[in-house]
Amino acid sequence: MTCTIQNVLTQDAARLTEALTLDFSGARIEVQSLLQHVLNVSRAYLLAHPERYLNDSEQTRYSELLQRRLRGEPVAYILGEREFFGLMFKVTPATLIPRPETELLVELALQRITWQQSCRVLDLGTGSGAIVLSIAHAQPDVEVVAVDASIEALAVARENAENLGINKVVFMQSDWYTALDTRHFDLIVSNPPYVAIDDPHLQQGDLRFEPPSALASGSDGLKDIRNIVDKAPAHLESGGWLLLEHGYGQAAQVRELVQQAGFKSVFSACDLAGIERVSGGRKL
Ligand SMILES: C[S@@+](CC[C@H](N)C(=O)[O-])C[C@H]1O[C@@H](n2cnc3c(N)ncnc32)[C@H](O)[C@@H]1O
Repeated sequence: MTCTIQNVLTQDAARLTEALTLDFSGARIEVQSLLQHVLNVSRAYLLAHPERYLNDSEQTRYSELLQRRLRGEPVAYILGEREFFGLMFKVTPATLIPRPETELLVELALQRITWQQSCRVLDLGTGSGAIVLSIAHAQPDVEVVAVDASIEALAVARENAENLGINKVVFMQSDWYTALDTRHFDLIVSNPPYVAIDDPHLQQGDLRFEPPSALASGSDGLKDIRNIVDKAPAHLESGGWLLLEHGYGQAAQVRELVQQAGFKSVFSACDLAGIERVSGGRKL
């Protein structure tokens, strides 16, 4: 069958919609991403050349990628990359796929960095390095330490730092604060695992392909957040901030934990969908 860009976009967006119960516009964007990758063109090119035919090798390559997506594999793992905060990050099945809502955590962190010159930032559970590298890219003067328990994730984060030309981040393998001794920071940020271990969402959609250790956290989803909050005061300077991403419906509990740990100016902030997504407080 002869395949034009237009045919592929229409037919395969419909196939993806049906196979993965996606909405049609989301499925169309995914097909565009696969086509862009195979043809090595921009989205604007696809839209401007709907009549362009795919040659045999392009069709073969594209079909392989589409089959993987039809089996449920996330597009970011198929392409090996995902954009976050305007930067491109390598991702592998060892790393969480950075989510758009996590950009809120970066924005809130950057707002708190501007008030002082040499700011020390700690990112707990760095994964692909999306948060810490976005911060370091926007504020090259900050001192940054990024930890993760996964050696495989740290290798990806290091590669992303190199690709982005950011060479001052210290990456450490650590179970949260364990390897940090008594080091202190002005800002601690974290997007830790926060899904309850028996949450059925873990068996659905893209989450099935992501590392369980990046997602699940005890019976109520708050095991790692409790751990991070409890020990945060010992690693923060006076006036320093703790900022945590958390799940839908967890904001009130996280605020309570932060308050109980002695933090002041405790707050939650909403993502673009209006969901309380990041909570935090300030050590006095
Ligand atoms: C939700 S992912 C966040 C990844 C990345 N920061 C992001 O926002 O895309 C949580 C990360 O925490 C790491 N992690 C889980 N348990 C940990 C622990 N005990 N100590 C350090 N890191 C841990 C996981 O390996 C994973 O990379």
